[in-house]
This record gives sequence, C-alpha cells and structure tokens, in this order.
Amino acid sequence: MPATHHQYDLVIAANRLPVDRVVAADGSVSWGRSPGGLVTAMDSVMRERDGAWVGWAGEVGQAPEPFTEGTIHLRPVPLSAEEVRDYYEGFSNDTLWPIYHDVIVQASFHRDWWRSYERVNQRFAEAVAEVAAPGATVWVHDYQLQLVPRMVRQLRPDVRIGWFDHIPFPPVELFAQLPWRRALLEGLLGADFLGFQRVADARNFVRACRQLLRAPTRKDTVTVTAPDGSSHTARASAIPISIDFQGLESLAKTPEVASRAAELREQLGSPKVLMLGVDRLDYTKGIRHRLKAYEELLRDGAIAPPDVTFVQVATPSRERVDSYRELRSQVEHTVGRINGEYAPIGSPAVYYQHHSYPQDEMAALYLAADVMLVTPLRDGMNLVAKEYVTARHDLGGALVLSEFTGAYHELHQAFVCNPHDIEGLKQTILKAIHTPDKDKVRIMRALRRRVSDHDVARWAARFLDALASAPARPERQEQQDRVDEASRTARHAGEDLKEREDRHRRLSERRR
Ligand code: F6P
Repeated sequence: MPATHHQYDLVIAANRLPVDRVVAADGSVSWGRSPGGLVTAMDSVMRERDGAWVGWAGEVGQAPEPFTEGTIHLRPVPLSAEEVRDYYEGFSNDTLWPIYHDVIVQASFHRDWWRSYERVNQRFAEAVAEVAAPGATVWVHDYQLQLVPRMVRQLRPDVRIGWFDHIPFPPVELFAQLPWRRALLEGLLGADFLGFQRVADARNFVRACRQLLRAPTRKDTVTVTAPDGSSHTARASAIPISIDFQGLESLAKTPEVASRAAELREQLGSPKVLMLGVDRLDYTKGIRHRLKAYEELLRDGAIAPPDVTFVQVATPSRERVDSYRELRSQVEHTVGRINGEYAPIGSPAVYYQHHSYPQDEMAALYLAADVMLVTPLRDGMNLVAKEYVTARHDLGGALVLSEFTGAYHELHQAFVCNPHDIEGLKQTILKAIHTPDKDKVRIMRALRRRVSDHDVARWAARFLDALASAPARPERQEQQDRVDEASRTARHAGEDLKEREDRHRRLSERRR
C-alpha cells in the first residue's frame, strides 16, 4: 500500500519493525519476521488495533517508504552503517545490554556510541511526533529507546507516553557505572507510565531516580521538577509480558503440528527422552552452562544417546559484536566435543541448529520435547518458557526453568534451577526426566493455567489502562482545557443557534 499522511491514536516505537527487510546476494528483497520476544508479543497486540509502528527495517541505509501490513501502518526509520555499528551494536548491545544483564560480560563505554544513540533516539522521536494524532497514546519499547519519551514530550506535549522495559532494569550499583546515567533516567522520566517485567526492576528504577537524580520518590512514583519549576509524577510498576496463548495453543492442536512432532521424534532416532533448548544465541541465555551440565551427565553415565538426545536451536543474533562471536565459537566447539566424545555414529548427543524456524515448526518441536531447558543467567522474561507450556495442550513435558528469568516469578511450579550451580542443574534435569508422569501433568496444568489467565492481550490491556490513568501533566492539562473550552464554545454556539431558531419559529407561528 502507498504511504499515507494519516495520524494514529496509538503509536508504537520499538527498535525493530515487526518485519525485517532482507536483501539477498542476487538483489531480491523479502520480508521476514524480526527476531525476539518483543515482536512476538507486540505483533499480536497490534494486529487487533489500527495503529502505527515506528521502527528500523533491519537493513543499512535508506529506509523503505512507509507501508501497511494488515491493520498496522509501518513507519521505517533509517540507520546508516555507522549508526548500526555505534547505536545498535555498540551502545545498545555492548554498553547497555551487559550492564542491564548483571555484567555477565564486560560493558564497553564509548562517547561516540553515546552520541549516535542520542541522534538515533531523536530520529525515532521525530517520526513518532509525525504520525501521532492529537492526544494520541505513544508506547515506547525497550532499552534501545530510553531517550525517546522525553524527546517526544518536548515535540508533542499533548500525547500520553508509556515505556515498557523488556529486559531487566539493573540495580543502581551497576546502573551507576554508566557515564550517561542521568540523561538516561531523565529520558525515561519523559514517560507518564513505565512498565517493567518484575517488581524488582521497577524498584531498581525508582531507586536509581532517588539516588542519582535526587528526585523525590514515593512507593512507585517519581516526582520530576522541570527547570521552570513545574512538576509532574511518573509511575513505575511491574506488568509482566506474555504471549498469545490461544493462537499458539490452537496451532499446536492442529493435526499437521501433531504429525510433524511425531515425525521429528522419529527423525531424531525415537529417543526415550528428547531435551530441547531454544534461544537467541546470547550469553545471557546460559547455553554454555546447560551444555556443561549435559556433558557431565553423559560423562557420569547418568544419560546416554540414543535413549537421550538434545536439540539446541540457537537463533543467530548480533553476530558482529565480539562477545556474541566468542559465544558462538565456544558453543560450537563444545557441541563438537560432546558429539565426538559421547555419541555413537548415527546418534548425535546434541543436534545444534544455528537458525530460526517458523512458528509451526517451533510448535512441533515443543510438542515433541520431553524436557525443555530454559537456563538463562539473567533474562527479563523468557517467552520461550511460556510458549513451551502453551504448546503442551496434552499436559506432557517438563519445564526446567532458571530462577534468574522473569518467567520464574510466574512459573515457579516448574523444575527450578540455578544455572551457576552445575551440580544442582544436573540434579534438576534428572528430576525433570524421572518425576512420575502424573506429577508432571499436575505441574504442567498449573503452569498452563497461569499463562492462559495472563496472556498478551491482558498484558497490553493492563499496560494501556495504567497509562490511561496516569495523572495528567500540566502541559497536557492546559491542552485539554483548551479543547474543553473550544467544545464548550461550540456547544454554546449550538445552543444560541437553537434559541434563535426557536424564537424565529414562535414569531412566524404568531404571524400566521
Ligand atoms: O527484548 C530484548 C530484545 O533486545 C528486543 O528489544 C529485541 O527485539 C530482541 O531482543 C532481539 O534483539 P535484536 O533486535 O538485537 O536482534
């Protein structure tokens, strides 16, 4: 569809659009689904609304023209090669990402990266200001766009702004390392409402505002005073994200998915126990820890192929960032070693898949897997855990879940592990294998109930309700007062007109 200059009552701003533009070596162009949980969640929310989505189309250079996908108006934001390097790979994923994930790897600080981050955030804010209707709701997402709330506020004081943090918000002791900590907090405080995955994340944010900005705080609110002396409050609460339970469950119930699941098990040598890991290839996901525990279980003789096998799907991610490159080579080295050491010919101990799969194939894998290994060292939520239990409409399977995920706070009945404790992780994996089926069914039923009662639609509704009930800001109140005044005048004008008409009617009746 061609570009429109329409404005929208709901505007999403996220680093990526829900679709990525891929240009092949032969020049042909195709669109694929963007990686990550954010898109999985927001895509289903936006499909039911008539709104706009501002984001990067995933390629370097000029952005494609705005276009419409289903009911969503997509407004691509361009990133140059330097900006992909400095704003996306650099500041977002080599500075903020490690700091926000407990510094599992060292963070890098570069002033050029910060300048690029500011520039790109400003570009996003301008695109938002362009497509937002008067009084619109603007929903900004994630750590890549923390300056956008304030920038949008400056451009469009009439709109209501929310921000949702898909990843953890770090304790102030780690956040304080950032040389740009004040600007980041001030950027976020442009929002009326800030949503976090866990109560601890919201608290960390409020505490950072108190300690680093000396802002007055009360429970979940921060009071912000502008240079002109006016003040407003921003609220921060936990609203954990979820998935489209019904959509995925219906997909997993289709005969095609069921027969694909059976076929997969057969192709994998019909093991007694099939274990599965599904992650972006990221050091936060605990893939190395998982492999270490698995390797030791093989070494101890506690498990062995072909009775037990393990499929690890590792979606390529941020491949030009050094720490991700290193992780890939370590994981691939370990997989090679494990197979070389413990797998007889024709029965691999680990099937390693370095690509992403469409949703129906993922549903089949979930249905086929007896044990799902979700072992992050730190994860904002982890929607894979929620997807696995959603797909298990047969009440089969067992979820091993790290206590360092946001999902743990909702799915604590799972087989819980601390991935740093390799001995403990090994025992948890064995427990997940050997617990009697009737107990696993009971656990799975409880996990599924939680996700079905708290699906993505409920998450979005809770966020938007909280944003709608955020206190009006002085500048927005003034704007609202002007709108009210204008409609009062129009109403009075209407009443005057009606009075004049009545008088005229009475006069003409008398004349008759
Ligand atoms: O939720 C974390 C997140 O960084 C999202 O913001 C992002 O869409 C997803 O993971 C995938 O990461 P990337 O866009 O860097 O491939």
